[in-house]
Amino acid sequence: MSKKFVIFGDPVVHSKSPQMQNAGFKHINFDAIYEKFHLVDGNSLKNEFIKNEFSGANITVPHKEKAFLQADVVKGIAQKIEAVNTYVLQNNQVIAYNTDAPGFLKAIQSFGKINKVLILGAGGTAKAISLALQEENVDVTVLNRSKSKLDFFKNHGIKSFSFDDFVNEKFDLVVNSTSAGLKDEELPAPKELLENVLKSSSFAFDCIYGRITPFLVLAKSFHNEIKDGEDMLLYQGVLAFEYFTNTKADNKLVEAMRKGLKGES
Ligand SMILES: NC(=O)c1ccc[n+]([C@@H]2O[C@H](COP(=O)([O-])OP(=O)(O)OC[C@H]3O[C@@H](n4cnc5c(N)ncnc54)[C@H](OP(=O)(O)O)[C@@H]3O)[C@@H](O)[C@H]2O)c1
Repeated sequence: MSKKFVIFGDPVVHSKSPQMQNAGFKHINFDAIYEKFHLVDGNSLKNEFIKNEFSGANITVPHKEKAFLQADVVKGIAQKIEAVNTYVLQNNQVIAYNTDAPGFLKAIQSFGKINKVLILGAGGTAKAISLALQEENVDVTVLNRSKSKLDFFKNHGIKSFSFDDFVNEKFDLVVNSTSAGLKDEELPAPKELLENVLKSSSFAFDCIYGRITPFLVLAKSFHNEIKDGEDMLLYQGVLAFEYFTNTKADNKLVEAMRKGLKGES
């Protein structure tokens, strides 16, 4: 019988994970099927996972924190992030991972050595990528619209500001991890503040994928090298795929999954 995998989310209809993971399964002839699972009540996540006999799952907005709480075993950096995006069933136990964090690190490798990063936003993604960077000994600062989410970062020894008390420095890389620009034409912070930051930075990364956001347009106008979130999405998926199938991804598999992600296979 084929193994069954899913992505849990609410909403989940736009997820590209099934086309990406199924392309990977096909590439290595792995007998499995990956589907979308629209889950409204995050508290029933583990029950649904077990009841439906899934071998593995990805978890997306807004259930990553609840997925963390329900897992039997949480591995690696996910213990610090307190949110997971991957479940794997092993010996009747739900093992959980966060692959967003290492996926982001892999995505920014193309920029070369980065020492100092400013992260815009303080949501789930900011938590994952700030801790991933901190583990790599990168100097991280978080800047968010509202102050209420900054305690998590302060508790982990990460400098964090809101717009009114922000102290500008020279950052190598500026990351937009807010949802500004996802479905609108908004910038993630006041324009003047961003201009002051981007005039001395070299690289700009947007976690949003598939479009050049107003943030990336502004960064480019200040001669920053820019990159959208496609590679981040791809690599978090590749790392999850490695856990699902217990195989190591080579370049051909990664490119097969990229084609799947882009709807080209
Ligand atoms: N490429 C990938 O693989 C990948 C993976 C994960 C996420 N993402 C993307 O990353 C983004 C954030 O996801 P998330 O899960 O971290 O979301 P989240 O937990 O809901 O956090 C959203 C953050 O964005 C800020 N924000 C929202 N609208 C804003 C605006 N107009 N101006 C300034 N700040 C604004 C919020 O600030 P307040 O605290 O002030 O509300 C909050 O800090 C989304 O666009 C998502 O699509 C991409």
